[in-house]
Amino acid sequence: MAGLIPQSFIDDLLNRVNIVDVVDNRVHLKKAGKNYTACCPFHQEKTPSFSVQPDKQFYYCFGCGAGGNALGFVMNFEHLDFPQAVEMLAKENGLDVPREESKAATRRKSENAKLSETLERSSQFYQYQIRHHGERQAAVDYLKARGVSGEIAREFCLGYAPDGWDNLLSAVGTDGNQQQLLLKAGLIIEKEKFKGDGIESETKGSTTRRYYDRFRHRIMFPIRDSRGRTIAFGGRVLGDDKPKYLNSPETAVFHKGSELYGLYECRKADNKAQRILIVEGYMDVIALAQMGIRNAVATLGTATSSNHLRRIFRWFPEIVFCFDGDDAGRTAAWRALQATLPFMEDGRQVRFLLLPDGEDPDTLVRRIGREEFSVKVDQAKPLEDYFFENLSRDLDITSIEGKARLSNLAKPLIKQFPKGIYGQLMLDRLSETLGMSSQSLTELLASKPDSTAPVMDQADLEQIPPAYMQSEPRPFKQRASNASQLDKYRKPASLKAIELLLHNPELALSIKQDLVPLHSAEDENRKLLLSLIEMIQKDPTTDTYTMLGYCYGTALGHQLPQLLQSEKITPTEGMEQEFLHIIDSILSDIAKKLDLLQLKDQLKSRVKTAKEQA
Ligand code: UTP
Ligand code: MN
Repeated sequence: MAGLIPQSFIDDLLNRVNIVDVVDNRVHLKKAGKNYTACCPFHQEKTPSFSVQPDKQFYYCFGCGAGGNALGFVMNFEHLDFPQAVEMLAKENGLDVPREESKAATRRKSENAKLSETLERSSQFYQYQIRHHGERQAAVDYLKARGVSGEIAREFCLGYAPDGWDNLLSAVGTDGNQQQLLLKAGLIIEKEKFKGDGIESETKGSTTRRYYDRFRHRIMFPIRDSRGRTIAFGGRVLGDDKPKYLNSPETAVFHKGSELYGLYECRKADNKAQRILIVEGYMDVIALAQMGIRNAVATLGTATSSNHLRRIFRWFPEIVFCFDGDDAGRTAAWRALQATLPFMEDGRQVRFLLLPDGEDPDTLVRRIGREEFSVKVDQAKPLEDYFFENLSRDLDITSIEGKARLSNLAKPLIKQFPKGIYGQLMLDRLSETLGMSSQSLTELLASKPDSTAPVMDQADLEQIPPAYMQSEPRPFKQRASNASQLDKYRKPASLKAIELLLHNPELALSIKQDLVPLHSAEDENRKLLLSLIEMIQKDPTTDTYTMLGYCYGTALGHQLPQLLQSEKITPTEGMEQEFLHIIDSILSDIAKKLDLLQLKDQLKSRVKTAKEQA
């Protein structure tokens, strides 16, 4: 069930359970003084360094740094996320987990639900018009001419936005509320006050409305989310006017960069399909469906993004990108390849079908038919082939320079593969092409800085400011390689402050600054830092373990035991100074941002008055 688990329930649950029982049920514990020990379940060991402390209700492993409270233990041991661990622990104790919606979430949901309803009504309106409007014939003829049957049109809920400024507005925008919703959905546009934009004259006499329809005399393609709810529209002109397609703007329910046209229809037609085709256009999806190829989706005029890929790979292990054979199509394909690299886990497959110049999937499938098109899809080029072909296209890879160039181009890309067989195969193939053993190539990848990046020498290293002088974001440019030496400098200042605080809770008591501005921090590290400081200031007996326990279940929770273990580069006597310095720099960074915001506001209002005066 969705909804938040109330904090009070989590507190109550943690009060009820005894961590000794929770752990002992899973790992046999031995008593050692007032604590209990065992061999750590989170790393391989022969002598026990895992300890459970009943008075702190906390476990900690001195070997691997794993640590946390009872919930943290269940999460780690059972590989569960936080809510699942709460469910499990509650169940073991005969409790039901209550859920509550945050007020903001409830409000957002009901607003989005209203927006959805309006979008759905609008879609119904457009569909009704294509069947009944007096001037529907042009739209019907257009679709017929493009070979779209009534059946497919119905399935994709195609509609028609009639010519005129207020068809949708009068039909759906029946009161102020509805008009606001249409506005939020981007289906109507607010008129600008000044005259002479052509709109005033067209609507003169008929109405004194403040709004007009965005989509006029266009074929309407509703864009649906994966659950079939209409979230936006694309509208095509019937002829050759520009712009050819008009799309809904970004709204609370529509994020163009992560939606795929046709995904809902595709899953509905066959929810067991393993392979998906990614094409460029609305009409490509429709034409393929018309020809019986039901597994195509289109990005909405944007490049393929990681958001798209995350969604697709949730359902389909195999993608075939099917792009036009022109320059734009080739560029799109290469971009798509780059975006997919980090997703290439074992078991996934990505291929590329570049069409002949001047064709798109719509024209091609109609010309050669379903069978032949499917053969082309089956024979599409695997990612690895496309990868090497494209990189070595203008290179002579029999020459030393060519090899060096190829290796420089390929290395940063291959590094993006997740760990697994696929990445290894790519490496093998690169080493084969270069004529070197894959082991020396692997070493090369791990060690040598890319020759195109500036090489860092000792002088560079010495110029890097000590951690406490770093504000966020890091003031020095990130450079390639020699990384291990630099890692300790790469910690954001607020994380460094948290680390100091974990070692020395009393530091929080030496803060004299006013922390109010920190409440506006949006960064997770900063938020956590603030709550830890407040926790200690409220109860000065707060110790390291209490803090670790508190942090469990936060995004940073799993990093903290590591932080606690991490190398101490600050001598004890400098700690307080360093800590206060970081607090200062964070506060002044926030102040700067707030100033900037104010400045922006001032500028905006100045521009506005200037416009009004003009
Ligand atoms: P295409 O021009 O390739 O689309 O643009 P198409 O589907 O093949 O068009 P026709 O109907 O057969 O002529 C690909 C995609 O780019 C976006 C649309 O999402 C379109 O489907 N696009 C294109 C726009 O958003 N606006 C435009 O003016 C053109
Ligand atoms: Mn087309």
